[in-house]
Amino acid sequence: IAVEIHPAAKEGSQAVAQQIAALIREKQAANEPCVLGLATGSTPKYLYTELVRLHKEEGLSFKNVVTFNLDEYYPIEPDALQSYNRFMKEHLFNHVDIPEGNYHIPDGTVPKEKIKAYCEAYERKIEEVGGIDVQILGIGNNGHIGFNEPGSNINSHTRLITLDNTTRLANAYEFPNMSQVPRLAITMGISSIMRAKRVILMAWGSHKAKIVRRSVEGHSTDQVPASLLQQHPNCQFVIDEQAAQELT
Ligand code: F6R
Repeated sequence: IAVEIHPAAKEGSQAVAQQIAALIREKQAANEPCVLGLATGSTPKYLYTELVRLHKEEGLSFKNVVTFNLDEYYPIEPDALQSYNRFMKEHLFNHVDIPEGNYHIPDGTVPKEKIKAYCEAYERKIEEVGGIDVQILGIGNNGHIGFNEPGSNINSHTRLITLDNTTRLANAYEFPNMSQVPRLAITMGISSIMRAKRVILMAWGSHKAKIVRRSVEGHSTDQVPASLLQQHPNCQFVIDEQAAQELT
């Protein structure tokens, strides 16, 4: 894993936005879609702010961009305050010229008996556009990527997963109280992520330092899902100095 350290989240996010903008323009010139895998949560907020700025101020167009989000709570209505569907519209899609049919976010309202087929179709759509060019990731305190909690198999695909209690606690601030944090989520699998041509994991702040170290320097194990990225041929961690402070 290549590690790139920036003074703070702002600089790191700008560097990632530049990489994405360059790829979008390169694909535009070749008349090809640019397929992005996207994350939510606090980590990518500044990245999206910067991409919106590049659209508004520097003419970066998202007309050829196709996106697939990693995950969504289950069950949840798409317009719920905590929904990742809503998050993506508010932070990115409502502010750029991406065509409406080009973005995909797991649907937290699919009836339970249809989830399996829904998840298979999600994977198929990714394959049909030629696979993910760049996958953006955050990292959970337990090492989860997407909502692939510890123990997620390296061959796992998009599926329904039970959230760890530590994850529910970490995300409780978004909800009125802990009991309202969903117990389930739909997430892309580890293998869905590993198939991306390039992976960029971002982490900001000292609370991520321990898990960044275990992911980069520890054994590659499904007990720390992000450490499985050591097996990816083109994976970069873009982190700030605080998140880097435990690296040796
Ligand atoms: C969200 C996601 C999660 C988060 C992780 C870190 O789409 O895939 O893996 O990236 O839980 O969350 P934050 O960024 O809020 O610290």
